[in-house]
Amino acid sequence: MLTSEFNAEEFIKTQIENLRREIKEEKALVAVSGGVDSTTCAALAYKAIKENLICVLIDTGFMRINEPEWVKNILNKPPLNLPIKILNAKENFIKSLIGIKDAEEKRKIFREEFYKVLSDVAKRENCRFLIQGTIAPDWIETKGGIKTQHNVLTQIGIKTEEKYGFTLLEPLVNLYKDQVRIIAKTLNVPKEISERQPFPGPGLMVRCVGEVKEEKLRELKKATKIVEEKLMNKEIQQYFAAILDEEFIREQFFPELDLNIEEIKVFKNLATGVKGDERAYGKIAGVKIKEKHRENIWNNFEALISLQSKIISEKKDFTRVLYLIEEKNDGKYAISIRAIKTRDYMTAEIAQIEWETIKKIGEEILVNCLDVKEVYYDVTPKPPATIEYE
Ligand code: XMP
Repeated sequence: MLTSEFNAEEFIKTQIENLRREIKEEKALVAVSGGVDSTTCAALAYKAIKENLICVLIDTGFMRINEPEWVKNILNKPPLNLPIKILNAKENFIKSLIGIKDAEEKRKIFREEFYKVLSDVAKRENCRFLIQGTIAPDWIETKGGIKTQHNVLTQIGIKTEEKYGFTLLEPLVNLYKDQVRIIAKTLNVPKEISERQPFPGPGLMVRCVGEVKEEKLRELKKATKIVEEKLMNKEIQQYFAAILDEEFIREQFFPELDLNIEEIKVFKNLATGVKGDERAYGKIAGVKIKEKHRENIWNNFEALISLQSKIISEKKDFTRVLYLIEEKNDGKYAISIRAIKTRDYMTAEIAQIEWETIKKIGEEILVNCLDVKEVYYDVTPKPPATIEYE
């Protein structure tokens, strides 16, 4: 359905009728993260079944600093008045991910933990239904094999009644993000939520590249706050930080490159990408230009993007190219800043940011994140990279 033909009032009315018909006088559970999709879904469900809705926010430990409380406050008060409870499940997630480096394995473990927690709540609260805000790109990407979205279950043959003891209801399953934002506005979802930049369900887990560790996650949260504060209101659709291990492999060959390159490092961590509509899980190159030329090359943005394109087209096993902004002498981690411009999140371009701003962000991260040695800017569009790292 085209967004221009989309009738929000009609959609809401039909979905409310459907939910009431399915649930009748029983109770249903909804899990909210504070993102546009899950909040819109919860607002719709609350309109349909009122006090028979049990509304929880699972604190996975992968949300941003103070985010669970911030979300709870907004959703609790008018106009939404959602009776939301925060469930602390941080331990479950961090423990189950010990030693796991592979991106898809991490996503599947996250899915298992997430639904184990929900299954327990559903049983405790006597809910036979779970309502969730899955939207079309979630199952399209999962079925297409690009990456496993944690909330895609029935579409890939998981029988939720047998496995978790609840029937899944997904009122937004055929909608795209822009349509969800229209529904959100029609349901009076506050602007802080309806206009929010997207945030993945598994949250910072997919930006903590490779193995998740508590101290690595702590550094990522601090860097995320700095990047979000500095890049908000710049008409960039998505902007965030990711953290990588400062561990590198030897790469014997790079194409002839000029641009005063001092060094190209290859990270041990891998990152996801899409090449020719297929999933790619490949290497990450970190390009270091001599400090006195760094600003000049940055300002010649097209040359930078074509350097990225040259590396990735000649080295088929690479999915990302990062450009070094700032560094210090010690630290176990590197931060990569990602800022993209996009309409539909299926493809994305790199946002061009003034050198002073990006340099300031780099400096601030190095001062505040003691375990971070290098700060990079990701110069890879989608494709060949995905927006998220994993
Ligand atoms: P990718 O990384 O696939 O991201 O290019 C496209 C958009 O989807 C968001 N994204 C996710 N959202 N669960 C979500 O709810 C996920 O697992 C997930 N992975 C990616 C991403 O932030 C971007 O806006």
